[in-house]
Amino acid sequence: MTDSQPISRPAGAAGVAVVTGGGRGIGAAAARHFAKAGLAVALLDVDRARGRALADELAAGGGQARFYDCDVSDAAVVDAVAARVAADLGAATVLVTSAALIPNTESIMEMDLAAHDRMWRVNYHGTLHACRSFGRQMIAAGQGGNIVTVGSINSLLPLPLPAYNPGKAALARLTQLLADELGRHGIRVNSVAPTYVMTPELQARIDAGQRDLGKIMGVHALPTLPEPSDVADAIGFLCSPAARTITGILLPVDSGWTAGVSYMTYAGGVPWGRGAAG
Ligand SMILES: NC(=O)c1ccc[n+]([C@@H]2O[C@H](COP(=O)([O-])OP(=O)(O)OC[C@H]3O[C@@H](n4cnc5c(N)ncnc54)[C@H](O)[C@@H]3O)[C@@H](O)[C@H]2O)c1
Repeated sequence: MTDSQPISRPAGAAGVAVVTGGGRGIGAAAARHFAKAGLAVALLDVDRARGRALADELAAGGGQARFYDCDVSDAAVVDAVAARVAADLGAATVLVTSAALIPNTESIMEMDLAAHDRMWRVNYHGTLHACRSFGRQMIAAGQGGNIVTVGSINSLLPLPLPAYNPGKAALARLTQLLADELGRHGIRVNSVAPTYVMTPELQARIDAGQRDLGKIMGVHALPTLPEPSDVADAIGFLCSPAARTITGILLPVDSGWTAGVSYMTYAGGVPWGRGAAG
C-alpha cells in the first residue's frame, strides 16, 4: 500500500480500531474499550480461538468486530491483513500494538539465542510492521489517526529479561521517531508503560513461583496493580481529543512503580517502617 492509494473511511462506525494481540489481556481490554466507544474493531492475533470468540462477543453486544489471523513478526502478512481490514471495515483510525511474547528471568550468558531472536521479532519488529502498514493506511486516508504502542516499565529501567527489556526500551524510541515522522499527517503516536498487570497469566506466574507478589507490591506507591481495563482506559485517553496535543510520550500506568522502585528499596528504610521496605 502506498501514499497514493486512496482508502475509504469506515461506514457506520466512529472509526476503525486495529488491535494486535487483541485476543487476550491488555489487547482484548483495548478492543472492548474501542468497541464500546462505537469503533469497528479488527482483532489481529495468532490465537484464533480467543480472537474469534472475542470478535463474536463484541458483535453480539452490537459492535462491529472481525478477527484476522495474523503473525505480526511477518511484515508481508501484516501488510496483507492491513489491506483486508481496509476493504472489510475501512481505513484504520486507531492502532494499538499489544502483541508480544512475555518471558521469565534469564541470563544473557545462558539464554537460548533462537528464543531471544523470536522475542525481538514479535515484540519489536511486530510493532514496527503494524505501525508501518497501518501508518501508511492512515496517511493514505488523510484523516489523521492515533497509534499507541504497548511498552512496559521495562521501557524505563533494566530488569533481568534480556530480549524483552531492551526491546521495550527500543519501542519507546521507535514511538518517538514515529511521532516525529507522522505528526505532519495529523497522526499521534504514543506509548503506555504498564507495570505488572493483574491478568490470569500473572496470577499463574505468581502461583508457579515465577513472580513474587510481596516483592512486587513492595516497590509500588499504590497498594493495587492495574488491571487490563486500566491500561485500556489510558490507551483510550491517548487516542481521545483530550490528548490532541500529546504525541511521542511514554505514559506509565504503573501504580507508582516509577516513583517507588528506588524509594521503597532505600537502605535506610522508608519513614513509616525503619529498615524495611514495609
Ligand atoms: N501483563 C503485564 O503485566 C504487562 C506489563 C507491562 C507490559 N505488558 C505488555 O502488554 C502487552 C500485552 O500483554 P498481555 O499481558 O496482555 O499479554 P498476553 O500474553 O495476555 O496477550 C498477548 C497476545 O499477543 C498474541 N501474540 C503473541 N505472539 C503474536 C504474534 N506473533 N502475532 C500476533 N499476536 C501474537 C497472543 O496470542 C496474545 O493473545 C505486551 O506488549 C506486553 O509486553 C504487559
